[in-house]
Amino acid sequence: MAIFRTTHLAQASAKDAYDVHTKAIRAMFEYVGDYYPQPAKMFDWEHVSMEHVQRRFANSQVFQFVTYDEDQVPVGYCFGEIHGPSGYGFIHFFGVAPEVFGKGAADNQMRFVLKFLHDQGVHKVSLVTFPVNERAVKFYKRNGWEEEVLLKQHWWGVDYLQLSYWIEP
Ligand SMILES: CC(C)(COP(=O)(O)OP(=O)(O)OC[C@H]1O[C@@H](n2cnc3c(N)ncnc32)[C@H](O)[C@@H]1OP(=O)(O)O)[C@@H](O)C(=O)NCCC(=O)NCCS
Repeated sequence: MAIFRTTHLAQASAKDAYDVHTKAIRAMFEYVGDYYPQPAKMFDWEHVSMEHVQRRFANSQVFQFVTYDEDQVPVGYCFGEIHGPSGYGFIHFFGVAPEVFGKGAADNQMRFVLKFLHDQGVHKVSLVTFPVNERAVKFYKRNGWEEEVLLKQHWWGVDYLQLSYWIEP
């Protein structure tokens, strides 16, 4: 059984986050295929860079985590934000590298994120994904997330599913 360690991203490790972000997004785009239009994918790629990872450090409401395997190889990345003192959080990206799909790295990362948000006093956290991203939807539901609302013809004219998790105080 592989052992994974999720940690707060350090500025010096921005490249680790960037490397995994790239792998996980590529895997997601391949998985959902034409459901997500090409111009949308290209637009998103413009926001995947070392510079974007670095810029997030400047925003105190933003959190970034990276997950490492036993050999200290970065295999997961997550970033999101807490909306001030409202108790609401949003995950902008959550993913792991294809090499560790099905190996528990994503579960480890999710446990870490939810514990962090709990400790910050967050009572609800949401994210959006594509309904056709069945692998992700199954993963989130198995980890206690609930389908909350279907966002019809949302960004780029495609449907998104909002899932949320309510955190016990
Ligand atoms: C979404 C993600 C974090 C899940 O991590 P994972 O390690 O792959 O997840 P798991 O293997 O624990 O669970 C995936 C579930 O989907 C199922 N699954 C795997 N491949 C599948 C496929 N091709 N089609 C449908 N279901 C699939 C698994 O059987 C499992 O179901 P179960 O929980 O009922 O057993 C990971 O796949 C990922 O990072 N993907 C790329 C980025 C992404 O899509 N992020 C989400 C964007 S919001």
